[in-house]
Formats: sequence, C-alpha cells, structure tokens
Amino acid sequence: MKTFYIRGKDRLSAIYVGEKIDNIKKYLPHKNIIIITDENVKKYYASRFPDYPIISIPLGEKTKNISTLETIYHKLITIGADRQTFILGIGGGIVCDIAGFVASTYMRGVKFGFIATTLLAQVDASIGGKNGVNFNSYKNMIGVFSQPEFVICDLSLLKTLPLKEIYNGFAEIIKYALIEKQDMFEYIESNFKKAINLNHEILIKLIIDSIKIKIDIVQKDEKETNKRQKLNFGHTIGHALEKTANIEHGRAVSLGMVQAANFSYAKGFISKKQCKQIASLLNKLNLPVSHNINGSLIIDALKKDKKRHEEIINFVFLKKIGASFIKKISLNDLSNFIKNQ
Ligand SMILES: NC(=O)c1ccc[n+]([C@@H]2O[C@H](COP(=O)([O-])OP(=O)(O)OC[C@H]3O[C@@H](n4cnc5c(N)ncnc54)[C@H](O)[C@@H]3O)[C@@H](O)[C@H]2O)c1
Ligand SMILES: [Zn+2]
Repeated sequence: MKTFYIRGKDRLSAIYVGEKIDNIKKYLPHKNIIIITDENVKKYYASRFPDYPIISIPLGEKTKNISTLETIYHKLITIGADRQTFILGIGGGIVCDIAGFVASTYMRGVKFGFIATTLLAQVDASIGGKNGVNFNSYKNMIGVFSQPEFVICDLSLLKTLPLKEIYNGFAEIIKYALIEKQDMFEYIESNFKKAINLNHEILIKLIIDSIKIKIDIVQKDEKETNKRQKLNFGHTIGHALEKTANIEHGRAVSLGMVQAANFSYAKGFISKKQCKQIASLLNKLNLPVSHNINGSLIIDALKKDKKRHEEIINFVFLKKIGASFIKKISLNDLSNFIKNQ
C-alpha cells in the first residue's frame, strides 16, 4: 500500500492506494457512521460494507442534483445523524461529489471519507476536495472545497466495473499525462493493452502517477485561482458536450481534449503530429475522438460554464504532449473555432 497526503485548509487528507475495502474499520470512528453509495455499488459490495445505515442513491449524472441532496438530508435526520456523524461515501465520482457535499454542509459540516470504486474516482473525482452538484443545466454549479479525512483506492473493486467505465477513467489519466508528464504518455502508449486488461503493475503505476500530479497541483492551488485550472484541460468543451449530448464524463473529456489539442494547433502551439498522436492513443483506449454534435449547441452550453468570467475564458492549451499553460481567450474566439470544426 502507498499513502499520500493533501494538506487542506483545515485537515490533512490521506489517500491510501492499494488498501482494501475490508480494512475500512481501521479508518473509521467507532460509531455514528452513515454510508452513502449508489444502487450498483450496493448490489456488488454491500455484503463487504461495515454494518452501518446505508443511504443509496439512483444511478447517473442526472442524480447529481439538489433534489437528491434533499432526499439525503431527510434520511440523515430520520436516522438521527448529528455533528458527530461520520459520512462514508462508497462509489464513483457521482457518489463522492454528492457525499462530500452532503457531509460538508449537514449541520455546518461533519467528517467524511471515501472508498473510490471507479478508476475515474480513484485518479480524480475523490481527490482534491472539490464536492458538488449540478444545478439546472449548470454543471457542478453548487459546491464546496472540503477535503475528506481519507480516500481508499482498492484496485480489486475495479474488477466489477464495466469496461466502458475503465475507458472513462483513462480519459482523466491521459489528461494528467498531457498536461504534465510526457513520459507517462509514452508509457501508456507502450502499455495500453495491458492497462485496459487491468494489469496490476501498470494500473497501479498510472493511478499513482495521476494522484501525484493532482496532489502537486491542488497543493499549490487548493481553491483553483490559477494552476489548478490546468486540471480542466479538455473540460471546457468536454463539459459542454456532457450537457448537450448526455455523454458520460470520461468520454466527453476525451472529445474535449482532442478539440483542445486541435485548438492549440490552430493557435500555433502544438504540432499536428502530436495532435494525431493524442487522438490515436485515446482511440486505442476506446474513447471517442470525433462527434457530429451541432456546434451551435456546444457554444450555447459553453456560455453556461461557471468557469467563464463574462466573455473571457481561461483556456488550457498544450505546448506539446506533457506541457500545458493557461491563456485567457474570448468566448468568441473559441466559438469561431468550434463553428469551423
Ligand atoms: N470532484 C472532482 O474533482 C471531480 C473530478 C472528476 C470528475 N468528477 C465527477 O465525477 C463524475 C463521474 O464519475 P464516475 O465516472 O466515477 O461515474 P459514476 O459515479 O456514475 O460511476 C460510473 C458507473 O459505475 C458504477 N460503479 C461504480 N463503482 C463500481 C464498481 N466497483 N463495480 C461496478 N460498477 C461500479 C456506478 O454505479 C455507475 O453506474 C462526474 O459527475 C464528474 O463531474 C468530479
Ligand atoms: Zn474530469
């Protein structure tokens, strides 16, 4: 097992990679625990959960909204949750985002921890202290920055994950390689077949590399004023596609990264050859690299991105594979690029 730490504003958050769900009791207080999970995770793993009340939410991004929060707050009150209650989120990114938000707001905040059960949650969603829900068509509009006490990444839980969810996780892993680490990109190129077959040695290396990059960036900028925005590479267009076409997060990020790389090329930053290399690797990992969604729908959705400061967007560009930078551009500039795709 490997342990990493994030020093948050009010606590040290530990990430245990390679720990097992069966050891969870070691990390929990002795009583007052409530589990938040989703229907799938409950179906597969409830028999291995510690014996505490379970609140289970329905599946899918459409669940990540305020009415789900209301249902959970009601259940917490019914169960008798108080300020000593500890919330344990067991699930993918959606469960982590919701459980973290609920814990951070219920009675002005109770302690919480996660067992991340998807690859995407293990490398990204459970790490870094961003928790929140969507509001109307605005993605992640209502949220808090608040670090969990711990995150457990038990790789054996990935065995029941549908393959498409493994691919979704790889979208974020490739994101880290693209923004920060060229040799990680090359490593994935050389090992992609073994990686998607969940080869332990390769997967654990990629999960650890991803977590290290995220921790390093978050540590420098917990509240996303500057450097943390690099983690949004591919997400400006990705989030717009996610909303417009109801595409899963990882797949939308894959499309968003291809377009962000092409936009970087159009601006003269990255070579055409490297753009092709990026699309080719995403394609090998069964992630989408092209779509036929109407540009004006994407632009409408972009206008609703909460990260946009009026007409100016902080866009993450690639200089080359493994090197990124943030540059302010106008929404108009990005819209023109999208229209001409
Ligand atoms: N807070 C952050 O920093 C952050 C970062 C990245 C993504 N996110 C958010 O994460 C969400 C996507 O997360 P996700 O891709 O994990 O989706 P998800 O939580 O919907 O999980 C994907 C599917 O896998 C199922 N599942 C989960 N674990 C399983 C297991 N071990 N075995 C079998 N099935 C399992 C789930 O029930 C679900 O159907 C998005 O809402 C995105 O915005 C947040
Ligand atoms: Zn993401």
